[in-house]
Amino acid sequence: MVCKAGDSEFDQDVTVLSASRPFSVALDFATGSLTPYSASLVRPLSDMASAFEDQAAVESILASGDDPVIYRSYYPDVPNEPDHLAFLTTTISAGTVGSEFFMTRGHHHYRDSAELYVGMSGEGIMVMESRRGDLSQQELAPSVVIYVPPGWAHRTVNTGNVPLTFLAAYYGDAGHDYGAMESTGGFSIRVYRGDDGPQLRRSATRDRVGPS
Ligand SMILES: [Fe+2]
Repeated sequence: MVCKAGDSEFDQDVTVLSASRPFSVALDFATGSLTPYSASLVRPLSDMASAFEDQAAVESILASGDDPVIYRSYYPDVPNEPDHLAFLTTTISAGTVGSEFFMTRGHHHYRDSAELYVGMSGEGIMVMESRRGDLSQQELAPSVVIYVPPGWAHRTVNTGNVPLTFLAAYYGDAGHDYGAMESTGGFSIRVYRGDDGPQLRRSATRDRVGPS
């Protein structure tokens, strides 16, 4: 039985999905959606305004009455337990704040543990930063798999003109820690729209706060 969120049977279906029984979901590579999904997260600009470097641009967009959806994620109901493999899909809209590309908020895992990303559509860059300050950037595109080792914070940036969609799989008990990076001014590297494609530059907000 296939149900959508909001259907009267959905709670019953969630029970099936969250039990220790096999299940399957359908991926829409173009939109990034899962069917069925048990939860979704919508992240508008107002919900992550401080993540972008150009705060004047943020205020200008929000003052105009616009509050664009930067990204949206869909989750099946996998228990947050060590032996489970949680996964989600995410769609990042195309666009910029100032010249900085739309991106995810970015996080560490509370429990340092690996994650696997699979590109489904669109094009982007994953920015990764280890707890000791090592940096890595990897291009994310359809059929590309990116391995994020334990202890590396990660953020995904849509550098294209269409939505960027991907699937990510991680340990059920990994947890999402957004504060660890934000308390130090965010990631050291930001991705901007340049004349000849994406440009990666040192983050001014990181420099203002200084190293952790
Ligand atoms: Fe993650």
